[in-house]
Amino acid sequence: MAALAGRRIVLGVSGGIAAYKSVEVLRRLRDEGAHVVPVMTQAAHHFIGATTLSALASEPVRTSMWDGGPDPIPHTRLGQQADLVVVAPATARVIGAYANGLSTDLLTNTLIATRAPVVLAPAMHAEMWVHAAVADNVATLRRRGVTIVGPGVGRLAGGDSGVGRMADPADIVEVVVDVLAPGGAGDAPGSRAMNGLRVLVTAGGTREPIDPVRVIANRSSGKQGHAIAAEAVARGATVTLVTTVDLEPPSAADVVRVETSAEMAEAVGRLAPDHDIVVMAAAVADFRPVTTATDKLKKADGVPQIVLEPTEDIVAGLATARRDDQTIVGFAAETSDLVENATKKLESKRLDVIVANDVSAPGAGFAHDTNAVTIISKGGRTVSVSLADKRTIAAHVLEAILDVRSH
Ligand code: CTP
Repeated sequence: MAALAGRRIVLGVSGGIAAYKSVEVLRRLRDEGAHVVPVMTQAAHHFIGATTLSALASEPVRTSMWDGGPDPIPHTRLGQQADLVVVAPATARVIGAYANGLSTDLLTNTLIATRAPVVLAPAMHAEMWVHAAVADNVATLRRRGVTIVGPGVGRLAGGDSGVGRMADPADIVEVVVDVLAPGGAGDAPGSRAMNGLRVLVTAGGTREPIDPVRVIANRSSGKQGHAIAAEAVARGATVTLVTTVDLEPPSAADVVRVETSAEMAEAVGRLAPDHDIVVMAAAVADFRPVTTATDKLKKADGVPQIVLEPTEDIVAGLATARRDDQTIVGFAAETSDLVENATKKLESKRLDVIVANDVSAPGAGFAHDTNAVTIISKGGRTVSVSLADKRTIAAHVLEAILDVRSH
């Protein structure tokens, strides 16, 4: 079946030598069954004819906000109605305008007005691509969840070569298909209600005291755990949040503040029996100092020898003691071999679901407002969610939990 059947896609074409390749992108999108509306910038007309795009597209090409037509406000309508906007090629100007919220023409208006996923295929000279301003704009857009495909290395305009060549049309269309596929960045998670379910969520990193002023901590911000609690509240669940951080908790949640792994273990152990679902999003220290000095360690006393001991593995303990109707969910923060390491943790800790988090990926993991995860459920079902805000990730996690509970 055509992968994009029934999907409405705006294809933006901006002014670069690669604009001629947008014809191939358009043809491939149509081959996959998409309804394609092309939008050209003024500069694109120097490289490709509007007639060519119109002839191959599902609707005539749009070139301006002022060219009449049936719709008096095409700049918002196009963006609102699109399932996805792909810009190929995306010039430094379009990338810069979009990153900075500047609406300079119909294409940038459409990009700013849309809430649909956006895919950009940059194309420009190597010097421009590596310029700090362009690099910053691209990083900003990535952080906001925009998918960037390419550019590759190869021949550029004027006989030059280097990085900046637009990705191959086949690769661009493949990325569009992936983004809109189930579990892709553009695949909206479900929103099943959770009325009647009691959900316990842990959030933040624990802090293990060395002396009255020093702690062993980690980089967890607690944002993902708080987002899961907020999403569960919004779906009607009764939520208890055990957190180490001062982030605003959802007002309807019961909040328990803890600091150390021992306090978290005590709170979770006490509360878990009253809950149907436990989501251990907290980054719990694996080791803590054997003793805590009562007085501040003084530099004059020399380099301290801090002896560590293992902490209790809270989630593994819960999974062993669980009732049949309880669902236990863990997180795995990894920097390599994501799925392999997370699957091992799912099995060794006897979890129902594990959320694998590549904390070294750009825009993902600790402190960011966005995250990218792979959600692995017992039985092997795996859902990859590309970079999205933590509330969207939370929705995907809750959907995976509801899936395992219904099987
Ligand atoms: N966890 C826990 N108690 C601990 C340590 C971790 O409950 N003492 C939970 C975390 O909340 C998370 C999951 O276990 O849900 C995975 O934590 P992680 O630190 O990635 O796993 P570890 O087993 O500690 O493996 P490693 O640090 O070696 O990667």
